[in-house]
Amino acid sequence: MYLTREEERMLGGEYGYAARKAMEILVALGKIYEAERMVEIKSAQVSGVSYKNLGDEGLEFLEELSRDGRVRVPTTLNPCGMDLENWRRMGIPGDFAEKQLEVIQAYRRLGVELTLTCTPYLAGNKPGYGDHLAWSESSAVIYANSVLGARTNREGGPSALAAAIAGRTPLYGLHLAENRLPTVEVRAPKLETIFEASALGYLLGRILGRGIPLIRGIGGVSPDQLKALGAGLAASGGIALFHVEGVTPEAVRNPGMKADERITVERGEIRGEAEKLSENVDPDLIFIGCPHASIEELLSFHMALDGRKVRRRTWIFASRAVRDQAEKLGLIGKLRDLGVEVICDTCPVVAPIRSLGISSVATNSFKAAYYLRNLGGLKVALKPIEGLAEEAAR
Ligand code: F3S
Repeated sequence: MYLTREEERMLGGEYGYAARKAMEILVALGKIYEAERMVEIKSAQVSGVSYKNLGDEGLEFLEELSRDGRVRVPTTLNPCGMDLENWRRMGIPGDFAEKQLEVIQAYRRLGVELTLTCTPYLAGNKPGYGDHLAWSESSAVIYANSVLGARTNREGGPSALAAAIAGRTPLYGLHLAENRLPTVEVRAPKLETIFEASALGYLLGRILGRGIPLIRGIGGVSPDQLKALGAGLAASGGIALFHVEGVTPEAVRNPGMKADERITVERGEIRGEAEKLSENVDPDLIFIGCPHASIEELLSFHMALDGRKVRRRTWIFASRAVRDQAEKLGLIGKLRDLGVEVICDTCPVVAPIRSLGISSVATNSFKAAYYLRNLGGLKVALKPIEGLAEEAAR
């Protein structure tokens, strides 16, 4: 693999321990994927922030890096295990909070922006078309590639952090134009709701497993629908890029795009996906915001409640950036008056949710349902926003 003089010097330790460690990780990756060289990146998004997933070993690794390491490019952070301001109100145990704060301090020393969201593109880290990135967090990766037309592989937390410290990543995979063409055409019905988009993504991810779908027929979908579609595709499949005819930037620039393999998905199959995954539960928690909610989703939930107070624990997970925007609009106060909490910096999958006495949830996110059910052992009901509002007010 070709390395510039500066890259050689980083690897040789001239820039300190963290830069050397970062280059070792990147060179090893480059060799595995036969990258010819590195490419400079515009930003990084780093996952692996919750102490629940990192444990003491992960914390130690971060502390070592943060002794002399600094990120070279704007770097944002995925959710951690608690709301940094309201962790006591969430019911987070003190010993967990203490460790989580140590993790956050290590990232702060590394110069990472404490955005703590999986929607960095709603929180000031919005890449441009063709920008090379090193992002981790599968829903953010697929959004950056597909909806924004930026270029990133599906990084893990350590490789994204290594790329942030070195300011570059190996040039392979989705960084190369020839690897971004569709591998399968999907004809699907017009999507009406975010829930349907989430279900279609989940269904396609499950059927296809890998590859790059070019989706036709779903209509002029909104950014929130694209966010939900991508999260579903990336959760049940290893998919990091999709195109939507007439909507996503690469499909718009290349209207003749096609693939040899074709499949069709019927509306009944999309509906059936919720029935398969959903259980009949009396939820301890009702939530939206996986991926973190946009301002439009906060508004939709408030509208769906139609002035009714919630009668059980109801949370919306959102970035602090979106929360601040909602605060200015007076929306946070209105939601709180109805009993709805907007929780920041964390998410139901990376928070220690069982220690909060939660063993069943209702949500509109197929991604959250998949993880909470399969990895967390929780009971999950899937419903669209209106159904969740009904359930919360009942
Ligand atoms: Fe985001 Fe957590 Fe869902 S990181 S995509 S809210 S699982």
